[in-house]
Amino acid sequence: MARGKFISLEGLDGAGKSTHLAWLTALLTQRGIDHIVSREPGGTPLGEKLRTLLLNDEMDLETEALLMFAVRREHLAHLIEPALAAGRWVVCDRFTDATYAYQVGGRGLAVEKFAVLEQWVQGRQDGLLQPDLTLLFDVPLEVSRARLAGGRVLDRFEREQDAFFERVRHAYHVRASSSAGRIKVIDATRTLDFIQDELAQIFAKLEQG
Ligand code: TYD
Repeated sequence: MARGKFISLEGLDGAGKSTHLAWLTALLTQRGIDHIVSREPGGTPLGEKLRTLLLNDEMDLETEALLMFAVRREHLAHLIEPALAAGRWVVCDRFTDATYAYQVGGRGLAVEKFAVLEQWVQGRQDGLLQPDLTLLFDVPLEVSRARLAGGRVLDRFEREQDAFFERVRHAYHVRASSSAGRIKVIDATRTLDFIQDELAQIFAKLEQG
């Protein structure tokens, strides 16, 4: 049986990921593609418990980074790998690019440590397990900030200063330029129609490939 495809969605908090994720999964359903939708940090019962801690409890920054990878290991072992092996597609709200953007870019932790963790958690005989496609929803900081100001309680990351998010965005761009085949940068300041047209084209290529 053909292996499923793995798609991740990335972007600053407030970039509109949730809307696009809902649209994309509706498209998969419409195309008759068996799939699961998940998220990081989270995705498994243990991962969701760790998510609550990660989003709410103050902790050492290295602990935060290690927990992100611990959640990912659990997620890969119990959900992502079995689904892909069974031919199901996986749509994941954030994956390792978020760690490079937030923990390396935002928090300023040393990038070398992450290559080790990534190899440990995602290493396979034939290389690293990575998404087949990553959609990076890109908006300037002002737009993400304005969209976040919706009155709900902000989590530990969303409460960070502007400079933190500038570094996160920059780190996403750096990562996108070094993985141009996999990461597609989507200008998410445009209207939904334009964005959905672009997503449909990207999706059609992935489905054929
Ligand atoms: P998100 O699912 O976007 O939150 P929301 O439910 O509010 O849309 O992501 C939760 C937060 O976790 C987000 O601020 C980014 C952060 N994060 C990291 O810092 N590192 C990571 O590796 C991941 C996966 C997420």
